[in-house]
Amino acid sequence: MDLGPIGIFDSGVGGTTVWREIKKLLPNESTIYVADSLHAPYGKRTKAEMRELSVKITDFLLAQGCKIIVVACNTVTTNAIKFLRDRYRVPFIGIEPAIKLAALNTKSGVVGVLATKGTLASELFHQTSDAHANNITVIEQEGEGLVELIESGKLESGELKGLLREYLDPMVDAGADALVLGCTHYPYLIPLIKKIVPETLQIIDSGAAVARQTKAVLEQNSMLNDPGEAPTDIFYTTGDVSLLKGFIKDAEENTPVLKLKC
Ligand code: SIN
Repeated sequence: MDLGPIGIFDSGVGGTTVWREIKKLLPNESTIYVADSLHAPYGKRTKAEMRELSVKITDFLLAQGCKIIVVACNTVTTNAIKFLRDRYRVPFIGIEPAIKLAALNTKSGVVGVLATKGTLASELFHQTSDAHANNITVIEQEGEGLVELIESGKLESGELKGLLREYLDPMVDAGADALVLGCTHYPYLIPLIKKIVPETLQIIDSGAAVARQTKAVLEQNSMLNDPGEAPTDIFYTTGDVSLLKGFIKDAEENTPVLKLKC
């Protein structure tokens, strides 16, 4: 039986890194992805704005019949997921910086976290950090400007490289051996990051963990689609359709990428 698609949304194209992990783990599931590129970056928005935008997108996804909503945006998760869970009956899966995993893996006892201002300032981020990283040094760094550059599709620009050096060199100099990517846009920077940090620095992101959590919640609620139902994927963006297309070149040919007015 087809119980409806998995709804996934982000402030922009970054959440496609999570979409990819979900498709890998749950190939029988249909998905609908919304990139709110028109309003990115959310990291600079107030909590009230984030809530308002998230409600509009969630209403849209529910109107399309989505059975579960994956908030593929660290900034919305850390600032608005409780609000969304209180408001709707559908299950919500969020994404948080993988500090626990980094704390378990670090040998030097120093971990870097690269995230948006909105994520780093959130209560949920501090609770997670206090709960899992109280015996290690956590270097928090705001990725000012990174989301904007990724949203403009400039993944190899000198400007991006310069910013990454500015943000990551001090972490490396302080002995960090694990780097937590606390924004779903940042996995697109991994090839560039690898060029400028030592090979020994582990790069950790939470996309695969979100996919596992999505699968677990669907299983618990008997909401998995039957194998054999042909899954479909649909992408919407409030921004530039061709930009989003460029970020999902690995999707099935003819996957619809549509403009959303929201
Ligand atoms: C942003 O829109 O500022 C970044 C999204 C994220 O935190 O994943």
